[in-house]
Amino acid sequence: MTERIFIGVAWPYADGPLHLGHIAGAYLPPDIFARYHRARGDEVLMVSGSDQHGTPITLKAEREGKKPEDVARRYHQQFLDSWRRLGITFDLFTTTGTANHARVAQQVFLTLLDKGYIYRATVSQPFCPNCRRFLTDRYINGTCPYCQVVGTRGDQCDNCGKPINPAELINPRCSFCGATPEFRDSEHFFLRLSAVEERLLGWVKQQTHWRQNVRNFTLRYLEGGLKDRAITRDIDWGVPVPLAGFESKRLYVWFEAVIGYLSATKEWAKAGGDEEGWRRFWQDDRSRSYYFIGKDNIIFHTVIWPAMLMGYGNMNLPYDVPANEFLTIEGRKLSTSHNWAVWLPDYLSRYEPDPLRYLLSISMPETSDANFSWAELVRRNNDELVATYGNLVHRVLTFTYRNFGEVPTPGEIDTLGQTVIESVQHTLDEVGGFLDNCHFREAIRAAMSLAQQANRYLDGKSPWKVIKEDRLAAATTLYVAIAVISGLKTALYPFLPFSSQKLHRLLGFGGSVEDEGWRSHFPPPGQKLPPPEPLFTKLDDDLINGEVSRLGQEYHS
Ligand code: MF3
Ligand code: ZN
Repeated sequence: MTERIFIGVAWPYADGPLHLGHIAGAYLPPDIFARYHRARGDEVLMVSGSDQHGTPITLKAEREGKKPEDVARRYHQQFLDSWRRLGITFDLFTTTGTANHARVAQQVFLTLLDKGYIYRATVSQPFCPNCRRFLTDRYINGTCPYCQVVGTRGDQCDNCGKPINPAELINPRCSFCGATPEFRDSEHFFLRLSAVEERLLGWVKQQTHWRQNVRNFTLRYLEGGLKDRAITRDIDWGVPVPLAGFESKRLYVWFEAVIGYLSATKEWAKAGGDEEGWRRFWQDDRSRSYYFIGKDNIIFHTVIWPAMLMGYGNMNLPYDVPANEFLTIEGRKLSTSHNWAVWLPDYLSRYEPDPLRYLLSISMPETSDANFSWAELVRRNNDELVATYGNLVHRVLTFTYRNFGEVPTPGEIDTLGQTVIESVQHTLDEVGGFLDNCHFREAIRAAMSLAQQANRYLDGKSPWKVIKEDRLAAATTLYVAIAVISGLKTALYPFLPFSSQKLHRLLGFGGSVEDEGWRSHFPPPGQKLPPPEPLFTKLDDDLINGEVSRLGQEYHS
């Protein structure tokens, strides 16, 4: 039975390049998930876009003396380029700067207002007398009221992950000049989270299939009680508030960015010529929606966005929010300001995508933080991709090509051979089962163990020796090996799409791996083989020191 799956992916701020923490946290997992489901024949819609509003962009633009839209455009292009080169296959990667997004966000705002889930109130807001502006979100910093960490920004605490109202900060300071803000009255709109608190708590308690860290973090947050949150700001960069008298205010970036999941679906449907097509993913309860995000975005996707959807009514709530933990780099906390980061465009300009996808999949920060190191990239590439998988493929294909030139016709396949062939379907089922539950690490490990099994089989049968006396026995062994290799290209396709597609071609197939489906599909005897090429290349140990020494150095993107 085919399923319909909506995949929402965190919208990256278009204020700087992507780094491996983003990729391991939020971008690679949904791509693996989407490719697997597409191969299964499920209907998949994977969307995201650049988050181009909010203080991160205006801050960057002010520092560089540019307009925010110029900063946003530049990084949006860079994101699109990175997705293509890393093979992240969005059905639509748009931006929050479209007219469609503004319209949808305003319509959601007005509906919630109409239904009483949004109300108006006068609040006192921090205002810098020196810079003569209201200090919202990142324009203000101070001590976190929850975990007491200093230097916390006015939107969210990086240390404890809690969303923050600027007025809650202890000892607040203007981020520009360091002055202590004064407080001025300003009229704003508030999301009545208190009205859905009970419903949210009941709903989250039922989500026993969520990752434990995500569910527990959300429950702890909800059990602390929900405060209504301001969803407008005194700024001029963002989606306008669609009401007279509020011309100098904008919708809060987090309020409108999450609406991007819906507006992007509408944009996609319209582009496909079926304007009502978005409803299948949002209003049909047979559709499931998954949101892939880093752990710093949990509350916005497990509390705020569901609360907005509940208030709006008749919309699917998230089925799962498989948030990942953080990625450390060479054993240290990733820091963009200290350039303790590996930048994706930089990586892709010098190395292949699949080794990175492999490493980040097999050591994905699913249930705890995980570490990236260059030594580990080199080791896993050389010992696992090249030696275990690539070598298996290469020795089978070169030997077969030289002696047969085509997929050989087997004689009778013995029980050992049968068992190996049956392992293909078994592995696909196993990998699929893990992926269904968003267990990416276990999934890729299960796929790789099929490669190990095939290597053992091949070593035991030694067709290169046997061929001298018994050509048919060698043909049979090679046939079995080719069948397994063909299964491996499917099982590994969600993780290693480039090498799987290459292997597909090296096995003599046309078309794409994905179109073949999530099933064992053996090349027919007699299928012509093209000249073999290696799937992976060894990485030199020498690159490790060079790359590590670039960390923490100045970097311009
Ligand atoms: N731009 C936010 C961030 O990078 C994430 C937004 S996810 C969204 O933290 F759904 F709200 F857009
Ligand atoms: Zn100031």
